Amino acid sequence: MGKVYDKLLKCYECFKEKVSFKPEIALVLGSGLGDYADGIEVVTELDYHDIEGFPVSTVQGHQGSYIFGYVDGVPVVCMKGRVHYYEGYDISDVVLPIRLMKLMGAKVLFLTNAAGGINTDFHAGDFMLVKDQIANFVPSPLIGENIDELGVRFPDMGNIYDRDLRTVIKRTAALLDIPLQEGVYIQLTGPNYETPAEIRMCRTLGADAVGMSTACEAVAANHMGMKVCGISCISNMASGITANPLTHKEVQETADRVAPLFKKLVTECIKNIRDAC
Ligand code: HPA
Repeated sequence: MGKVYDKLLKCYECFKEKVSFKPEIALVLGSGLGDYADGIEVVTELDYHDIEGFPVSTVQGHQGSYIFGYVDGVPVVCMKGRVHYYEGYDISDVVLPIRLMKLMGAKVLFLTNAAGGINTDFHAGDFMLVKDQIANFVPSPLIGENIDELGVRFPDMGNIYDRDLRTVIKRTAALLDIPLQEGVYIQLTGPNYETPAEIRMCRTLGADAVGMSTACEAVAANHMGMKVCGISCISNMASGITANPLTHKEVQETADRVAPLFKKLVTECIKNIRDAC
């Protein structure tokens, strides 16, 4: 057995010893949704530190635990805090938490993040439904020996953000009267924000929003046959679009400001996704 799969199974054993909850939907809470778990009916929590071999996030404001519970009756697992490639982990470790949620039983992965707006029609505080992604600036999490138990060697990525889930999310946002942009997310390594020239490059490549997470997680989830959807909170306009220097504080402040609306949207989407699946 390969090292990556071996480590994943050890984490799964550790989870099984401590938790018996079976989630249907896995939710990754990005900046601004960090306290989302406060609003769910929590059944149990598992600190990342209590899972042997699990990569633990080092970023300020990113706490680390799985929260198990119900969102309006839907069994979910929420990742409060994710691991980023820029923290120095191998990309296979960055996606280990996603793979683990599949082993826990989740069939749908709902990704959220804070992102910089590249599309000049966007504004800080907007939400963007991710319709596709560019992940080529970070290594594929599938590099190395294929884990046949998880998925095939050459997985199709043509519907990486599931069409049906996108329809559900668009309908949900419309019913709630929450404006929802739609676009392509590009993942760069970070941790530095981009230069204006890099943002022009990203725009030329067809990206609408930029961030330092998500795309590699979506690739790993797709490989395993999970249905994936994602919403970005546009926390700032990307480098060079406005004159202000970018700061983590600004990203967090905008995300916090729109968090109540973001939470409402995510909650309604979870209910509707479950009904649609
Ligand atoms: N660039 C990269 N990542 C980000 C940004 C950005 O402007 N905003 C939030 N995450």
